[in-house]
Amino acid sequence: MDHIKNPFSPGAGSPPPELVGRDGVLEESRILFARVREKRAEKSMLLTGLRGVGKTVLLNEIDRLAKRERYHAILIEAHEGKSFPALLAPQLRSLLFDLDRLAGAGDKVRRGLGVLRSFLGVIKVKVGETEFGLDIEPARGTADSGDLEADLPNLLAAVAEAAQERQTAVALLVDEIQFLKQTELSALIMAMHKMQQSRFPLVLVGAGLPILPGLAGESKSYAERLFSFPIIGPLSEIDAAKALQDPVKRLGVEFEAPALAEIFQVTQGYPYFLQEWGYQTWNQASVSPITPDVVRRATEEATRRLDNNFFRVRFDRLTPSEKNFLRAMAHLGPGVHRTGDIAETLGVKITSLGPVRGKLIKKGMIYSPAYGGMAFTVPLFDQFMRRAIPEFQPHV
Ligand SMILES: Nc1ncnc2c1ncn2[C@@H]1O[C@H](COP(=O)(O)OP(=O)(O)OP(=O)(O)O)[C@@H](O)[C@H]1O
Ligand SMILES: [Mg+2]
Repeated sequence: MDHIKNPFSPGAGSPPPELVGRDGVLEESRILFARVREKRAEKSMLLTGLRGVGKTVLLNEIDRLAKRERYHAILIEAHEGKSFPALLAPQLRSLLFDLDRLAGAGDKVRRGLGVLRSFLGVIKVKVGETEFGLDIEPARGTADSGDLEADLPNLLAAVAEAAQERQTAVALLVDEIQFLKQTELSALIMAMHKMQQSRFPLVLVGAGLPILPGLAGESKSYAERLFSFPIIGPLSEIDAAKALQDPVKRLGVEFEAPALAEIFQVTQGYPYFLQEWGYQTWNQASVSPITPDVVRRATEEATRRLDNNFFRVRFDRLTPSEKNFLRAMAHLGPGVHRTGDIAETLGVKITSLGPVRGKLIKKGMIYSPAYGGMAFTVPLFDQFMRRAIPEFQPHV
């Protein structure tokens, strides 16, 4: 088939030819935006799911939706190496400038800029400071205590009040939310508590790996009340078939039903893998309809590509002891494993695994879906680990 016309789009954040199976979450966000604008109480959302399930693509769609609902949206990608306030501040500044240009009287926008300025003073990040203009004085005593859990709620409150004054609302969209540090996340949760209490028009939609289990104490109990946690998972067999069939049909090509079943079986419906298989299958096919045989040839190519890219980049960031830990997990198969079983497979004491487990969580390779359990964040990574280290000898 003509490679140039290939409709599939494997890649981080690449919009799929067909965004399948996410109508529920999109509808939930539409209702959230509409209700908050009308000053009704509604929970903000934290979308969680494994690598490659389509969180970023969905968050981008929610960004468009927010704009259609006449929100001012800020989209931030959290980072391992960068502080959240440093990522947020420049975006808030342009947001306040945008609000400043909107019609409407009042001094809340100027106050917002003043509060942002005093906040910047304590986080010690320069964001084109001169561009603030000499006439904006820091609002001393607000958002400048140096305690993020106190300052961030005040800062976002000032921004939300400015938006309210200009008859608009703010959507704060944060991708890779698991990279926020503990204090940053709890500050954000505190801020959202303040928004809800005062019915301020500011909504948070976060996306990332599962984070709730990592939260403790007060932040956790707040989070449970303030947010809904839609789980973004693999597509059902029907949705997966649609994600493959609809884009090729538009180009006059078709998959045979057993070919679709074959792809579903190897990809388990994970969106990133569906795109990859769709892409390779299209390139391998020479006529329509596409048969299971063509899919099997594509599987070899797709697996090779994943092993050399998607899986490999993650593997190469691991130390030998981290690889060993993950290989032991892979030995135990897909799903959730108790640290005790991993220790036993490695023939070491459970207590000795603490540090390496902590590092793997930090790198986003594994997460803890329930107390004491560990699972891979990357779908099918267990199979890859077995291919990458075939000679592993379990202790038991
Ligand atoms: N609903 C969907 N239907 C079909 N394909 C999808 C869907 N959502 C995402 N995809 C495809 O899946 C791939 C991964 O999407 P995306 O980068 O959004 O995942 P992610 O969850 O953000 O991954 P990561 O955790 O690695 O950031 C992309 O190639 C995208 O086109
Ligand atoms: Mg992503």
